[in-house]
Amino acid sequence: MNPDASTLALASIEFDLGAIEEGQSVTILWRGLPVFVRHRTQAEIDEAKAVPLADLKDPATDESRTKEGHEQWLIMIANCTHLGCIPVGESGEFDGWACPCHGSQFDTAGRIRKGPAPTNLVVPPYEFISDTLVQIG
Ligand code: FES
Repeated sequence: MNPDASTLALASIEFDLGAIEEGQSVTILWRGLPVFVRHRTQAEIDEAKAVPLADLKDPATDESRTKEGHEQWLIMIANCTHLGCIPVGESGEFDGWACPCHGSQFDTAGRIRKGPAPTNLVVPPYEFISDTLVQIG
């Protein structure tokens, strides 16, 4: 059995990034999950790219967590991979997100850097439809 049209419509959403200024984030909902959409600054991008993979608990390059040509955009499911709390942005030792639950800290690519979370914040499937329009799901 295939999902019907209404189910497929819920499975993906389009979101216009145009109003999000550099250095700002918004949280949107996709399939009932909160999703962070961050317009990263160049300093945040540079910081993420400079981290040696050997320093990472869940090694992933910055490139693998963003789309080529759109590296200023970081899109991630907002639930901490420890117990599901929503981390606070622009905080922690790594200038990314810090989780109020048990102190997990994520860097400017949403990668786990400290604390009990076992893995990076999850990047959902998404594609750019244009420079400012993204389809998630
Ligand atoms: S839910 Fe994030 S550290 Fe526990």
